[in-house]
Amino acid sequence: MPNMMNTKPVLLPLFLFLFLFLFAASQSKDLCNKDDKNVLLRIKKSLNNPYHLASWDPQTDCCSWYCLECGGADVNHRVTELTIFSGQISGQIPPEVGDLPFLQNLVFRKLTNLTGTIQPAIAKLQNLRSLRLSWTNLSGPVPDFLGRLKNLEFLDLSFNDLTGSIPSSLSLLPNLMSIDLSRNKLTGPIPDSFGSFHGKVPDLYLSHNQLSGPVPKSLGNLDFNRIDFSRNKLEGDASLLFGSQKTTWYIDLSRNMFQFDLSKVTFPKTLGVLDLNHNKIFGSIPVQLTEAPLQFFNVSYNMLCGNIPAGGALQKFDYSAYFHNKCLCGAPLASCK
Ligand SMILES: *[C@@H]1O[C@H](CO)[C@@H](O)[C@H](O)[C@H]1NC(C)=O
Ligand SMILES: *[C@@H]1O[C@H](CO)[C@@H](O)[C@H](O)[C@H]1NC(C)=O
Ligand SMILES: *[C@@H]1O[C@H](CO)[C@@H](O)[C@H](O)[C@H]1NC(C)=O
Repeated sequence: MPNMMNTKPVLLPLFLFLFLFLFAASQSKDLCNKDDKNVLLRIKKSLNNPYHLASWDPQTDCCSWYCLECGGADVNHRVTELTIFSGQISGQIPPEVGDLPFLQNLVFRKLTNLTGTIQPAIAKLQNLRSLRLSWTNLSGPVPDFLGRLKNLEFLDLSFNDLTGSIPSSLSLLPNLMSIDLSRNKLTGPIPDSFGSFHGKVPDLYLSHNQLSGPVPKSLGNLDFNRIDFSRNKLEGDASLLFGSQKTTWYIDLSRNMFQFDLSKVTFPKTLGVLDLNHNKIFGSIPVQLTEAPLQFFNVSYNMLCGNIPAGGALQKFDYSAYFHNKCLCGAPLASCK
């Protein structure tokens, strides 16, 4: 076996190196910050030591625990993300989450047995960039203090049992890119302050609530990218949301009580999705809509009249995008008399 004898001297140092490396790795120091670890263990206890958090073992580095991320050396490996998703978790959001001062991303999602209100201690998390509490049984109001989380970019409180009105303080957040409050039981008007966001204009998802009243006039000044106000009790003139100078891509106002003359509306040249079904919109469909790059269009169940303009994308949609109006005619409906 002369070959075997030849390879051994090469492999031996290699094995030795590997062994030393693994030994060193197993002895490497715990990166987890001691305060963070204590807080996390209290969070685990407060949630009744769920199986979902079984990896949260005090003997190990918390930066390796399930549902967590630590930042790099620049933040001394402090905990920056806590993401509890789809586990058997019961109870309320523990107040200790407010004691993870470097947290940038906090998620409690798809936890039907998570109850109580939105934890007030979240107000302490001044580094928070993304707050996502969705598909839970959280109830109570959308708290005013969210307007003090100055670094917030994404706010998702959808699919909960939240009640009360939308706090106007949300417009104070300068970096907000998206607000999703859809699928709750929110009442009252869209705040007037939403016409004066202090920074970027965020995408607004407010669908499936019980919001009422008109769209505030102030919103007409803003160039939104996406708006979903569908399935509420909003009324009056929503035409101010449109305008030929805007770059809006997505507008869903379906299933409300909006009442305005569609003939007088000018549309953004970027409009890709327009859903107006189930309102009280009257007038006719402007020819200018043939210029929009529509991928989805639905004006059914309104009070529209007149010829459906031919051209553009308007004949791409079947009759159900147009049916149940007062007297619309022309393809894809029956031709006008
Ligand atoms: C929620 O709680 C109920 C009643 O205690 C229990 O039967 C169910 O398994 C729990 N569900 C989850 C996802 O934890
Ligand atoms: C959570 O919400 C679901 C659906 O809304 C409901 O059936 C269930 O009873 C709620 N659970 C608790 C613990 O409140
Ligand atoms: C338009 O909306 C109505 C009402 O929801 C629905 O029945 C119809 O299928 C929709 N049609 C299209 C093309 O979206």
